[in-house]
Amino acid sequence: MEVRISGSEAFEGGYGIDEGIAIAKQLDGHADIIHVSCGNLFAPGTDFHTHPGIFQDEGMNVKYAAAIKKHVRCAVATIGGLSDPDVLEEIVASGKADIVEMARGLICDPDLPAKISSGREKEVRRCLRCFKCVGQDYQDGRLFCAINPASGKEREAARLPRPSGSKKVLVAGGGIAGMQAAITARELGHEVILCEKGSELGGVLLCERDVPFKKRIGEYIERQKHVLTKLGTDVRLGTEVTAGLCRELRPDVIVAALGAEAARPPIPGIRGENVITAVEAFSDASLADGNCVILGAGTTGLELAIYLASLGKQVRILEKRGADEAADAAATYAGQLAKYGLAVEYGSEAVEILPDSVRVRAEGREETLPCSRVVLALGLKPLWDEADALRGCAAEFYQIGDCLRPGNLMAATGAAWTAARNIGCF
Ligand SMILES: Cc1cc2nc3c(=O)[nH]c(=O)nc-3n(C[C@H](O)[C@H](O)[C@H](O)COP(=O)(O)OP(=O)(O)OC[C@H]3O[C@@H](n4cnc5c(N)ncnc54)[C@H](O)[C@@H]3O)c2cc1C
Ligand SMILES: Cc1cc2nc3c(=O)[nH]c(=O)nc-3n(C[C@H](O)[C@H](O)[C@H](O)COP(=O)(O)O)c2cc1C
Ligand code: SF4
Repeated sequence: MEVRISGSEAFEGGYGIDEGIAIAKQLDGHADIIHVSCGNLFAPGTDFHTHPGIFQDEGMNVKYAAAIKKHVRCAVATIGGLSDPDVLEEIVASGKADIVEMARGLICDPDLPAKISSGREKEVRRCLRCFKCVGQDYQDGRLFCAINPASGKEREAARLPRPSGSKKVLVAGGGIAGMQAAITARELGHEVILCEKGSELGGVLLCERDVPFKKRIGEYIERQKHVLTKLGTDVRLGTEVTAGLCRELRPDVIVAALGAEAARPPIPGIRGENVITAVEAFSDASLADGNCVILGAGTTGLELAIYLASLGKQVRILEKRGADEAADAAATYAGQLAKYGLAVEYGSEAVEILPDSVRVRAEGREETLPCSRVVLALGLKPLWDEADALRGCAAEFYQIGDCLRPGNLMAATGAAWTAARNIGCF
C-alpha cells in the first residue's frame, strides 16, 4: 500500500516538514511506501512545488523525502520535476529516497525506465515542464505531450496503416518539425535526407541555448540529434533546399519544415537600426544593452523580459491588447515578473519607432518613451512563398510546423509525426 502525502504544504498557514514527518511516522508500519510530494492543491501559489515548472531547480522536492526517510522504516518515494537519468540515479544511490516517481516524465517518455536500464539514456525524452499536457486537452480527457507525438493516441497509432514501400524523402529544414519528421520517416523505413541551411540542427530555438530556464529544450534538441544519428539519417548541414537541389536529388517526397520569420506590422520605423527581433535578443543579450522596450507580451515577449531582467537589463513591456484579453499569458509568469519588478503595460500601442524612442498610444493619449532598443515579440510570419517554391518538386509534398502556421513545439511535433506517418500510405 502506497500513501501519498505532502512533506510540507509550503505556504504560510499550512503545515511544514515537522508535521510532514509526524504524519509519516503515523503511517510507518501501515503503509509499504510513503510517497512524498509537496504543496496544497487548494492554496494558491503552491502549485509550482507540486508540479515544478521551468524556473524551479531539478529535484526541488527531494529534500522532503530525504528528511522523512530519516524517521521511518518503510520505503520512501520522491516526486516532482524529475526525468534526468543522472539525477534519478543520484537520488536513489545517495539514499535520499528509495523510489523516484514521475508523472510528466513518463507521459513524455513511457519507455524511460527501459531506456535507462538498457544503457540508452541519451534516447530518453526528458520532460520540458512546459505544462502542455495538463492544458485544455487533458481537461477534455486526453493526455498529449508536446514532444511525444504518440501520446494520447497510442491505440490509434497502433492501427494506422504502414507504408507500402520505402520512399526517398527530402526534409527541408532541421528545426523541431524537420527533425521529428525525419525521425518518424526513418523509423518507418524510408530513405531520408535531412537538409538544414544553417550550421546546426535545432532551428529557431537554438537562440535560447544560453537561457537557463530553457535548458531542457537544448537537451531535447541534443536528444533528437542523437536519435537521428542512431537511425543512420543522412543529415546535411549548410545545405539550403532549392528547386535546383530537388531536381538533383529527385526525391519521391518533400517535407517543407522551413520555419518562419519575425512578423513586422506596418509601424513606421519598424525596420530601423535600433530594432531587433526577440530571436536576436535571445541569441545575443548584449544587443539589448541600455534601456529596452519589448513590443508584445505573449509567451516570447514575457520570457525575453524575464531573461533580460535576470541579466540586470532595463526592460519595459508594451502590449497593444488590454489586460482582459492578454493577461492569461502573464499569469503563468506572475512570480518571475514580480521577482524582477516587471509589469506589462497593457493597452499600449506602438505607433512609431524613432531612432531613440517609441511613440506610444495608450488610453487615447500619445507619449514618447525614450529607449535604446526596440525588440519585436509580435509573432511570426510563415515562410509560405519559400515553401511554395518547393511544392511542385516531388509527387508527394507536406508543409509542416511554423512554415505552415506558427505555433509551438506541440504543433510542430504533432504535424511532423502525422506527415511522416502518411508518407507512402495513400
Ligand atoms: C524565441 C522563441 C521561443 C519559443 N519558445 C517556445 C517554447 O518554450 N515552447 C514551445 O512550445 N514553443 C516555443 N516557440 C515556438 C517553437 O519554437 C516553434 O513553433 C518551433 O520551434 C517551430 O519549429 P519548426 O521546425 O517548424 O521551425 P524552425 O525551428 O524555425 O526551423 C526551421 C529550420 O529550417 C531551416 N531552413 C529554412 N529554409 C531552409 C531551406 N530552404 N533549406 C534548408 N533549411 C532551411 C532554418 O534554418 C531552420 O533551422 C518559441 C518560438 C520562439 C521564436
Ligand atoms: C496529467 C496529470 C494528472 C495528475 N493528477 C493527479 C491527481 O489526480 N492527484 C494527485 O495527487 N496528483 C496528480 N498529479 C500530480 C502528479 O502526481 C505529480 O505530483 C506532479 O505532476 C509532479 O510530478 P512530475 O513532475 O513527475 O509530473 C497529476 C499530474 C499530471 C501531469
Ligand atoms: S507536455 Fe511538456 S510538461 Fe507535459 S510531459 Fe510533455 S514535455 Fe512534460
